[in-house]
Amino acid sequence: MTDRYCVFGNPIKHSKSPLIHGEFASQTQQAMTYTAELAPVEGFADAWRAFVAHGGRGANVTVPFKSDAFALCDTLSQRAKRAQAVNTLIVGGNGRIYGDTTDGVGLVRDLAYHRVALAGKRVLVLGAGGAVRGILEPLLAENPREVVVANRTADKAEQLAEAFADLGSIQGGGFVSVEGPFDVVINGTSASLSGELPPLPEALFAEGAWAYDMMYGSEPTVFLQWAGPQGAKLLDGLGMLVEQAAESFFLWRNVRPETASVRTLLRQSLN
Ligand code: ATR
Repeated sequence: MTDRYCVFGNPIKHSKSPLIHGEFASQTQQAMTYTAELAPVEGFADAWRAFVAHGGRGANVTVPFKSDAFALCDTLSQRAKRAQAVNTLIVGGNGRIYGDTTDGVGLVRDLAYHRVALAGKRVLVLGAGGAVRGILEPLLAENPREVVVANRTADKAEQLAEAFADLGSIQGGGFVSVEGPFDVVINGTSASLSGELPPLPEALFAEGAWAYDMMYGSEPTVFLQWAGPQGAKLLDGLGMLVEQAAESFFLWRNVRPETASVRTLLRQSLN
């Protein structure tokens, strides 16, 4: 039987993951399929078990199932434990379920791809939800001078910073208390989805700073539209999506796909 992989989500119809993994598979000549699977909101574990029973070897997991996936794993990577979320499931040889999260590595690799330095830099992260929790460990591992987490609900940012304080210099608070300049500003809020802008102070960006939105689309997000005129260099989350997929692919197949051509393809698919 051909090894089966998929992405579980709800909704899932517009997922780009089948396109990305299809390209990776043909590029590296892997005998595998990768599909998008809609799971019922209350039925993720059943959907996963049925998939494994029919030849499933692994899966990506997206909204709203990353916590459900975390809960059903037999073994978790250190970074998944920290993130309290799993975006990559792997069926081990003994049938045990291994869970990992590749989102943070995806972000860090995308920044490296664009030659954005993190070591010694001041980094501002906007948001304190699941998406931000997923990136903090790999981000702190790059040895930034300081990470500031700012959130609409200040308490959540403070708690998140405390939970990661053993890994590096990290502080949390509300948007109003944020003091620039920062070298890299990463928008990890879901505000872009509704076309909203977090209430940010001016003078956030250092000379030559980068603005990064973890969301992407055919048009620049509201956050990037705000950051551009202030002189920041802009990146959206498309590269992060491709790089997190590449890391998942590597975990499943032990082959590292090339990402540059897939970035181009994906960008074209948005227009
Ligand atoms: P995700 O998995 O995308 O992180 P989440 O866990 O629901 O989703 O977190 C959403 C994040 O976006 C939170 O940090 C949220 O701020 P609150 O904690 O104050 O709710 C943030 N967010 C959502 N809409 C926002 C908006 N319009 N302005 C600012 N922050 C917003």
